Amino acid sequence: MSKPQPPLSKTNLFKPIKVGSIELQNRIAMAPMTRLRGNPDDFTANDTIKKHFSDRAKNNGGLIISDAISVSWPGIGYPVGIMIQTKEQAQKLKPTVDAVHEAGSYFSAQLFHVGRNAVAAVMKARGLRLLGPSAGVYGDAEAEEAAKEAGIELEEMSLDDIDQLKKDFVKSAKNAVEVCGADFVEIHAASNYTLAQFIDISANKRTDKYGGCIENRCRLVLEVVDDLIDAIGAERVGIKFSPYMTLGGGSGVDGEIHCIAQYAFLYSELERRAKEGKRLAYVSNYEARLAGFTKDGDFGLSTEL
Ligand SMILES: Cc1cc2nc3c(=O)[nH]c(=O)nc-3n(C[C@H](O)[C@H](O)[C@H](O)COP(=O)(O)O)c2cc1C
Repeated sequence: MSKPQPPLSKTNLFKPIKVGSIELQNRIAMAPMTRLRGNPDDFTANDTIKKHFSDRAKNNGGLIISDAISVSWPGIGYPVGIMIQTKEQAQKLKPTVDAVHEAGSYFSAQLFHVGRNAVAAVMKARGLRLLGPSAGVYGDAEAEEAAKEAGIELEEMSLDDIDQLKKDFVKSAKNAVEVCGADFVEIHAASNYTLAQFIDISANKRTDKYGGCIENRCRLVLEVVDDLIDAIGAERVGIKFSPYMTLGGGSGVDGEIHCIAQYAFLYSELERRAKEGKRLAYVSNYEARLAGFTKDGDFGLSTEL
């Protein structure tokens, strides 16, 4: 006879856990889910976003991870979003973070740069370039067609573009912690956005120090990790990966280099930092079950609560 199961309330799920230097009251984390509800003009947070997160933080006590927040205009990718690159933008997200804290939960601000998977028409309309690790290496034929239709071409990120991206991650991370009061910053290195594109051999055909071998393809994401450790402390930094994800042109298990080999190096580098006293607050891994984006990049989402 099988042993009777303990009630859910007695399982580890409802026991506290230390993440970084913070003790969460339970082990429940709300996954980052972009809802595209920021103000379209200046990409700032608003009362709708505050209500969305404070509702979910009530009676929780765990971790709430934000929508993916763009680190810069060149990194937006979608028609609507949130940014905290300037102090003024960050001030608009602060009431949301405060509301999550007042409800007894903790807040992680997820930061991303969309790169080659940006909606081409959005970038064109805003006078922004379509950037990725390598020129002309689109996620798929549809993305290439969309770029042609929009009259824009996928350009290789220059070393200056890469330096700027790193600075933008740092600036947004500092604002997340110092202005918004976020407990953590999560580096979005998943979902085949820019950092994942650099990791993936099918997207990254570079011949400089950011491409060509496993170590070089991991260079950018590890530089962002190190910059954020320096800026806000390892105990506040989380990171998200999706090694197996093929949506958005990822190689998954079918790459020229198997994702296990590629990501084993990455995880070992994080562990090396941990052993040097710079252990990240958390590492999140997901295996996507998403079916796809809609052509205009709105995820088919409603703006209603
Ligand atoms: C509507 C929607 C929006 C999402 N937005 C993000 C996002 O902004 N950042 C991110 O890292 N993951 C995002 N995800 C992925 C989720 O965080 C999660 O990793 C994924 O849904 C896998 O979890 P599941 O297997 O429980 O669905 C999104 C998922 C959905 C359904």
